[in-house]
Amino acid sequence: MSTATYGPATGTPAFLRRAGEADGPGTAIEPGALRRAFGHFATGVTIVTTRDAGGAPVGVTASSFNTVSLAPPLVLWSVARNAYSFSAFAQADHFAVHVLGAGQRDLSDRFARPATDKFGGLALGQGHGGVPLLPGAPVVFECAAEHRYEGGDHLILVGRVLRITESDAADAPLLFHRGRYAGLAQAAG
Ligand SMILES: Cc1cc2nc3c(=O)[nH]c(=O)nc-3n(C[C@H](O)[C@H](O)[C@H](O)COP(=O)(O)O)c2cc1C
Repeated sequence: MSTATYGPATGTPAFLRRAGEADGPGTAIEPGALRRAFGHFATGVTIVTTRDAGGAPVGVTASSFNTVSLAPPLVLWSVARNAYSFSAFAQADHFAVHVLGAGQRDLSDRFARPATDKFGGLALGQGHGGVPLLPGAPVVFECAAEHRYEGGDHLILVGRVLRITESDAADAPLLFHRGRYAGLAQAAG
């Protein structure tokens, strides 16, 4: 077994630093190492949709989704600043988070590629704020955009859940771990 350590052994933690204060010695963590390390944190996979200013449907595959609060009902996810659909999400009043099932890997791949028409051939529903709804997700959270926070090269979007649609099919989740799709390993016994 090998271990690797990145970043400074000592120094002031970022959350204790004052605005503008330097990171401290040798704090640069190489992005590749960071991406690899982040990948150990297994997640579900979602597709988040909205409409752009011209009314065109927009969607991205996102694993940054997380639950925030029960009362009020809040969720969050973050959108990359270099995504084509960044400005659409940054300005959107509403968005919908589709939690994907194990059988929706192709859909995940489709929305993980920058493309002009990711929605071709899909039977779309219409949610709060006219947001496009995709078929087949185990659960969909329709949200009003409530807060936006700076998040480095991402923008963090917090949404208030307005409607939940759960599918009858108790589908196993699509998971993502260390750069690959994964399924739930069923415990024996
Ligand atoms: C499993 C997985 C998770 C992803 N999670 C996110 C995410 O949380 N936020 C994000 O902005 N992009 C995420 N991406 C990348 C986007 O899906 C990808 O960059 C997509 O091309 C963005 O679409 P756009 O460029 O048309 O806006 C993820 C991709 C995959 C495969």
